[in-house]
Amino acid sequence: MTAYKNLAKYYDLIYDLKDMTTKEISFLEWAFENLTKVKVEKILDAAAGTGRQVIPLLDRGYQVTASDASQEMLEVLGKKLKKRGYHIPTFCRDVQEIDFREEFDAAIFVFTSFNHLISNRDIELSLSALYQALRPNGLLVFDVANFLNLLGRFRPGLVEHFHKEGVKIIRSTSPRVDDVEDVFLHDELTFIDDNGVFTSFAEKIPLRIFTTYEVVSFLKETDFREIRHFRGWDDRGEKRGNTFRLIFVAQR
Ligand SMILES: C[S@@+](CC[C@H](N)C(=O)[O-])C[C@H]1O[C@@H](n2cnc3c(N)ncnc32)[C@H](O)[C@@H]1O
Repeated sequence: MTAYKNLAKYYDLIYDLKDMTTKEISFLEWAFENLTKVKVEKILDAAAGTGRQVIPLLDRGYQVTASDASQEMLEVLGKKLKKRGYHIPTFCRDVQEIDFREEFDAAIFVFTSFNHLISNRDIELSLSALYQALRPNGLLVFDVANFLNLLGRFRPGLVEHFHKEGVKIIRSTSPRVDDVEDVFLHDELTFIDDNGVFTSFAEKIPLRIFTTYEVVSFLKETDFREIRHFRGWDDRGEKRGNTFRLIFVAQR
């Protein structure tokens, strides 16, 4: 896993996601209480990253197991857990390789992580591993970036500047689309002045382009039931209109 290797250390600075995190956690708690009859206590975060969902879920008293394919992201998470005195099981593992059997009341795979699954086989093996990890009636929750939402407002390139905590970052993002293989190629070039220490790195992040009913089909093929989709983290089933972030909830 090379994506996120260099980005990990600056991930929390670049992605300032306080509002998004609040919405995600509120949705997750609502889904755990309303969309399954299982009492959700044990949660697997299979794309834990730097712990944006892990920490708030632990703070709310859930038992969380954290897994991610990137060692570098997990190292950042490890420091946060240590600082807060949390000891939880943590695994560096591709989601396809997680090997739990009916252990969790819920599994999450949040913030575009599902778009990192590129081939149909990746998707099938990943959903199957998550299915196996869940108890009967256990809940799977994940989101996908909905690239159809960009139709008509696609930006060929973007340069962003960040200046926080003495760190200056210039980040150029050049998206390209492979419209046959359904892949959104997210090429990033990042220049960092970290209190006088200069680095730069390039990350190539391919993201699979999905449509809503394609994801639903993958879930059905894996035997998931009660499949529902939501138009963003603040949708509780009543929202209409377009959305860049689609949320999927399904039961084992
Ligand atoms: C955008 S980050 C999201 C991390 C965290 N959930 C958050 O919201 O901040 C995507 C994460 O998915 C992880 N990831 C990508 N492909 C994966 C795979 N096949 N198996 C497990 N983790 C994967 C990456 O390493 C990265 O930590």
